[in-house]
Amino acid sequence: MKTIEVRHGQGSYPVHVGHGLLGLADVVQRHLQGRILTVTDDRVAGLYLERLTAQLSDQPEHQSLVLPNGEEHKTVASWQRIVDALVNLGAQRDATVLALGGGVIGDMAGFAAACYMRGIRVIQVPTTLLAQVDAAVGGKTGVNHSQGKNLIGAFHAPAAVIADTDTLSSLDRRDYCAGLAEVVKYGAIRDPEFFDWLEDHAEALNAREPEPLLEAVYQSVRNKAEVVAADERESGQRALLNFGHTFGHALETATAYRAYRHGEAVAIGMALASRLSELLGLSATGTAERMTRLLQRLDLPTSLPEPLDRDRLVDLMRLDKKNRDEQIRLILLDGIGQARILPCPSHDIRKVLQA
Ligand SMILES: NC(=O)c1ccc[n+]([C@@H]2O[C@H](COP(=O)([O-])OP(=O)(O)OC[C@H]3O[C@@H](n4cnc5c(N)ncnc54)[C@H](O)[C@@H]3O)[C@@H](O)[C@H]2O)c1
Repeated sequence: MKTIEVRHGQGSYPVHVGHGLLGLADVVQRHLQGRILTVTDDRVAGLYLERLTAQLSDQPEHQSLVLPNGEEHKTVASWQRIVDALVNLGAQRDATVLALGGGVIGDMAGFAAACYMRGIRVIQVPTTLLAQVDAAVGGKTGVNHSQGKNLIGAFHAPAAVIADTDTLSSLDRRDYCAGLAEVVKYGAIRDPEFFDWLEDHAEALNAREPEPLLEAVYQSVRNKAEVVAADERESGQRALLNFGHTFGHALETATAYRAYRHGEAVAIGMALASRLSELLGLSATGTAERMTRLLQRLDLPTSLPEPLDRDRLVDLMRLDKKNRDEQIRLILLDGIGQARILPCPSHDIRKVLQA
C-alpha cells in the first residue's frame, strides 16, 4: 500500500492506494469514529459492500444505505435519503460516512456529510478509476440540479481516501477507459515523465495489469494532491485540471449526455486542445500526434462524431465558467507536461473543429 498525504486549508488527509484494501481491517478501522453510515449504489453493493462491512462487524452502530446507480440519481432527493439515514441512525457530530462507489456516490455522500450537523467525517472509498484518480481527492462534493450539473455543492475534504485498485477489475470497459483519460490528463498538463511512462505502459494498462494500474492511480493522485495543495479553490493551478474539459463539456451537452462517458468526451477535448496548441504555435509539431496516439492506444476516441453542428459547439464553449469578457479561455499546451490557460479566438477554435 502507498499513501499520499493531501494538504489543504484546514489540515491534511491520507489517500491510501493499494491492492485488497477493502479486506484490510486495520486500514479501514483506523479512520472510523462514532456511528457509521456506509452509502453505496445498487451495482457496487452486490460487488463490494459485504467486503467493506465485514471490517465494521465490531463497530457497535453501523448501517448501510443502497441508492440506485447512475448520474440521473445524483439529485437532491438521493441526498435527502442519505441525510434521513443519518437521522435514523442517530448520528452525532462524531459520526462517519463511508462513501463506497464511483464519483456519483462520492459526491452525494460527501455533500450529505458536509451538510449534516454542519459537517461530519466522510471517508471516500472510490471504486471507479475516475473516482480514484479524480473525484475522491480534492474535497469537491455536490449534486445535480435540473438546470445544471453539480449546481449545488460544497467543499468538504474527506477524513481519508481508501482506493483499492483491485475493485477496478469489475468495471465496464468503457468506464475503465474513460478513467484513463483523466490519468493521461495529469501527464499532459504537468508531468512529462508520467506521460512517457504511460506511453511505455499503455498495453499493460489496457489489460488492467495490477502493478502498472496501481502505479497509474498513485501517480495521478500524487499529481492531483500537489495541484489541490497549491490551489484548493480553483483560482489558478487547479483550473489546469480542466484540460480538454471545455471541448468535452460542450460535446457532452451537444450530445445530450447520451453518446459519451465524461472521460471519452474529455479525451476528444484533449486531442482537440493539443491540435489547437500546435495551430497557435504554442507547442512543437508532433505534440498533438503524440497525445492522439496515446489516447487511441488506451481505446479512447480522439475525433468529433459526424454529423455534429460545429457552430453550436462553439456557442456551448462560450458558456464555460473559465471565460471572461466574451473570450473563450482554454487550457492549452506549451508541450507535453506543460499547460497554461489562454483566451482563444473562436475562428481558431473553429479551424480545429472543422479539421
Ligand atoms: N468531486 C470531484 O472533484 C469530481 C471530479 C470528477 C468527476 N466527478 C463526478 O463523478 C461522477 C462520475 O463518476 P464515475 O465515472 O465514477 O460514475 P459513477 O459513480 O456513476 O459510476 C459509473 C458506473 O460504474 C458502476 N461501478 C462503480 N464501481 C464499480 C466497480 N468497481 N465495478 C463495476 N461497476 C462499478 C456504478 O454503479 C455506475 O453504474 C460525475 O457525477 C462527476 O460530476 C466529481
